[in-house]
Amino acid sequence: MAARKRASASSDASAKPPRNEEAVKAEPKPAEAAPIDPPIAPPKLGFILKLSALFLAPYLYLILRHFDIDRELRRSILINAGLSLAGFFATVKLIPVASRYVLRRNLFGYDINKKGTPQGTVKVPESLGIAVGIVYLVLAIVFQYFNFTADSNWLVEYNAALASICFMILLGFTDDVLDVPWRVKLILPSFAALPLLMAYAGHTTIIIPKPLIPYVGMEILDLGWIYKLYMGLLAVFCTNSINIHAGLNGLEVGQTVVIAAAILLHNIIQIGASKDPEYMQAHAFSIYLVQPMLATSLALLSYNWYPSSVFVGDTYTYFAGMTMAVVGILGHYSETLLIFFLPQILNFLLSLPQLAGFVKCPRHRLPRFDPQSGLLTGTNDGTLVNFFLRAFGQKTEKSLCILLLLFQAMACGFCFLLRWLLAGWYK
Ligand code: UD1
Ligand code: MG
Repeated sequence: MAARKRASASSDASAKPPRNEEAVKAEPKPAEAAPIDPPIAPPKLGFILKLSALFLAPYLYLILRHFDIDRELRRSILINAGLSLAGFFATVKLIPVASRYVLRRNLFGYDINKKGTPQGTVKVPESLGIAVGIVYLVLAIVFQYFNFTADSNWLVEYNAALASICFMILLGFTDDVLDVPWRVKLILPSFAALPLLMAYAGHTTIIIPKPLIPYVGMEILDLGWIYKLYMGLLAVFCTNSINIHAGLNGLEVGQTVVIAAAILLHNIIQIGASKDPEYMQAHAFSIYLVQPMLATSLALLSYNWYPSSVFVGDTYTYFAGMTMAVVGILGHYSETLLIFFLPQILNFLLSLPQLAGFVKCPRHRLPRFDPQSGLLTGTNDGTLVNFFLRAFGQKTEKSLCILLLLFQAMACGFCFLLRWLLAGWYK
């Protein structure tokens, strides 16, 4: 279980949850445990609402005022947004309940960046991504009623996308409970992507960038099965890259929230600027899957933001990565998506020596925490978190997380700038 996972993770005996039956039996009985496992801290809703308003204002302005979007399409987007809002409140309610249940099954972790302080001894409920995943799936399934006709081609791909996301949630939760070895963990998303790859009936062609056409000798290239391989690899990359850019309170969900907001802005700008119904439908499809993810993720962030009262688990990181890969594939904007993922690409490149086994890879590649000063210092482990600490000096966990999220937002802004600069010239 996750408890086992963390036991192997830490060299500090005090940070080791029970590993075997005896140890579990030695745990206080639920009645005695009550004072040790108090209810989780209330959600930081004020902060989340302010953060949401920052995004919602321009987003709604683009949908309702700026672009002349087809009425039916706008209706579907707004119904989906309404469902997502309901999903936000449902997730906020569900997380404390689910927290009690996961704690009861010893699914908890210790906050490593607080080791040596009283907060570092608190059992933090783990894998709360499961609450997000369940609410998300219910919303996404129910939404079909409001949008698609029974014979729609989109319905097949939409359900294949949901099957992949659902399979990923299952495998992520399995990993949280069983503590799958790292190298097996890496390939789990390729299995989860199968429903989508098998059902995918869209085109397998790519448009050659204009500057390269004279060299390639064609405008459109059919990649055939290689395109499906690319789709599978994208799913493996998106899921794992979110999962390894982690370990600070709020970072896993925070990066997802920033990327999801950028995806939605991109989708609505593309819909607004296009007259091609199929192109608009592809981006609308992405909106239908990303809006509920953003809403449920914000609910999770209200508990996971510093100081975290719950951890998200690999259930969440895999779910978020797979959802974004799926919409990038089916919306045909995977290049844009990869630029949104710039910090994750950098983190992956920094991680390569350890992932490939050239350099020793400890269970946790986190910074060093000084309980006296409350500051984090970068270690030699190859992560963007450590790189930022080495480049910008010691930081508190919260300020480092904010800095990394600003960097994420800058990468998204850079992507929009690049698209604007290259428009018409590149494709
Ligand atoms: C990945 C990283 C690992 C990193 C971990 C943190 C690689 C190869 N693996 O492993 O280096 O340490 O994520 O999530 O890069 N935790 C905190 N504070 C947080 C979030 C998590 O202390 O804000 C700790 C808790 O003990 C929690 C555990 O990390 O229980 C979860 O780790 P897990 O998601 O299982 O690690 P991996 O995804 O395998
Ligand atoms: Mg993880």
